[in-house]
Amino acid sequence: MKIEEYDAVIVGAGLSGLRAALELSDKWNVVIISKVHPVRSHSGAAQGGINASLGNTEKGKEDSTERHSFDTVYGSDYLADQDVVQFMCEEAPKIVIEFESMGAPFSRLDSGLIAQRPFGGAGFPRTCYASDRTGHALLHTLYEQCIHKNVKFYDEFFLVDLIKVEDQVTGILAMDMASGELIIFRSGYVILATGGFGRTYKRSTNAIINTGDGVGAAFRAGVPMQDCEFVQFHPTTLFGTNILITEGARGEGGYLFNKDGERFMKNVAAKAMELAPRDIVARAIETEVREGRGFEDAYVHLDLTHLGAERIKERLPGIREICIDFAGVDPIREPIPVQPGQHYSMGGIATKYDGDYCETPLSGLYAVGETASISVHGANRLGGNSLLETSVFGRYVGRKLLEKGLATLPSNDKVVQSEENALREIENLFRRWNTNTGKKPVEIREEMGETLDTKVGVFRTEEELQKAYDKLVNLQKDFENVQLPTSEKEFNFGILRTLELRNMIDIATVTAYAALWRKESRGAHSRIDYPTRNDEEYLTHSLVFKTEDGLELKTKPVKLGKFEVKERVY
Ligand code: FUM
Repeated sequence: MKIEEYDAVIVGAGLSGLRAALELSDKWNVVIISKVHPVRSHSGAAQGGINASLGNTEKGKEDSTERHSFDTVYGSDYLADQDVVQFMCEEAPKIVIEFESMGAPFSRLDSGLIAQRPFGGAGFPRTCYASDRTGHALLHTLYEQCIHKNVKFYDEFFLVDLIKVEDQVTGILAMDMASGELIIFRSGYVILATGGFGRTYKRSTNAIINTGDGVGAAFRAGVPMQDCEFVQFHPTTLFGTNILITEGARGEGGYLFNKDGERFMKNVAAKAMELAPRDIVARAIETEVREGRGFEDAYVHLDLTHLGAERIKERLPGIREICIDFAGVDPIREPIPVQPGQHYSMGGIATKYDGDYCETPLSGLYAVGETASISVHGANRLGGNSLLETSVFGRYVGRKLLEKGLATLPSNDKVVQSEENALREIENLFRRWNTNTGKKPVEIREEMGETLDTKVGVFRTEEELQKAYDKLVNLQKDFENVQLPTSEKEFNFGILRTLELRNMIDIATVTAYAALWRKESRGAHSRIDYPTRNDEEYLTHSLVFKTEDGLELKTKPVKLGKFEVKERVY
């Protein structure tokens, strides 16, 4: 068995993982394990921008970290923890300036300052951007910095399981995707930065790689999942493929129309209109379609034609390209057909209530970015706060670990014993998959995605959620008997897809379970049968644990603060 030892192991090479590595790499021996080449990480798909109250534009002069914090908490429907939100918003201007000093190619105002555009739920133009390829620009910037610092990467290595001794993480078991070889990366610190799990749904803006590998591994290791009922549906995904059409398109002035030519947002958010938060816009579009005012019973129009060719080419070139290539529509001349699609997971690995922001209940295990539920987004994330969270908390977790100092591993015997057990368990599992006669992984995955799309969507009911949960429990049983006929190890994507499904099926079941429990409507969780917010009973985080007898739900108080809880009106 091949074993490598590090001061810290980082899993995931998106913005969170890269930023953490950058912080640690000067002083510690760290490694990044990633199932794709780093610049193919999903952070690169973020289009619209990163929020910071720089106040660079004329209309943004009155902006402040306080206003950014307020908008974030208000947008979260009060489920965000206010202390963490405040920390993130105070760090925001510093992290954007840091990116600038690293050479990130932000779009500029005539003054030379970083350009900022309006985004949903934000009181001011606060979203700094690099055309409509902001995530791509920031990802390349951080990757270059990591290369400069000689950060060590293992690309195309897959996280199979966490290894622990009692309540202390001691490393990970990973698979070299090319050879199929299993390798132990031993360390007293593991940082999970594996992104979200949008691919549990079929209709998603997420990259194919977003299968919740870190979340699934942590859940199997006994770490609870927090707030998984809160699934963000981006209002504007391209009809047909569900590729993201950035909120920046509405930030630049795009309008939404139903088939009667009505700007229907005036009925639900008369002031903010198209720039209401995502949960509200997604519900408005879904309502238009359900009530027969959509096109082909499926989508509405996002109209950019009045912006003019020059502005579209300068600010939204990627969007134009996507629309032409995937829908045969040129937004300079025609409206874009859009519908809501799964986009982001507000829920994820629970971090400790009183610990460091990214520390989990398993000693030495940290989670950062979309993998984690820290929680800065609560029940609904504002656009532009995701790139911010990844980089702020990536840097934070690196600094935190340096402050704590190197970890001490348990006795060598115990560590080796756990590693051998982990290896034996997975090899047994592979053997079982080879001899099983049940469903193929792809069949289970299709049924899982269909179930979430149709029963755990923008609008939810007890009846549909119960059906979804029952179905997913049955799919978990089917997974016990999943068949994987090929046992060759080299480039066996069958094994990888089955390992991914092992994570996703647990996460999908938790999503339905927590959605069934939350009998209220808050943020992105909209229950037709419980249409109002119920602060008395549900102003609380949900924590779902894996136990011998199935799932168990507990609650965790929300950290309230100076922003008084009130109704949201946009
Ligand atoms: O709409 C967008 O550009 C997405 C941004 C985000 O999810 O933060």
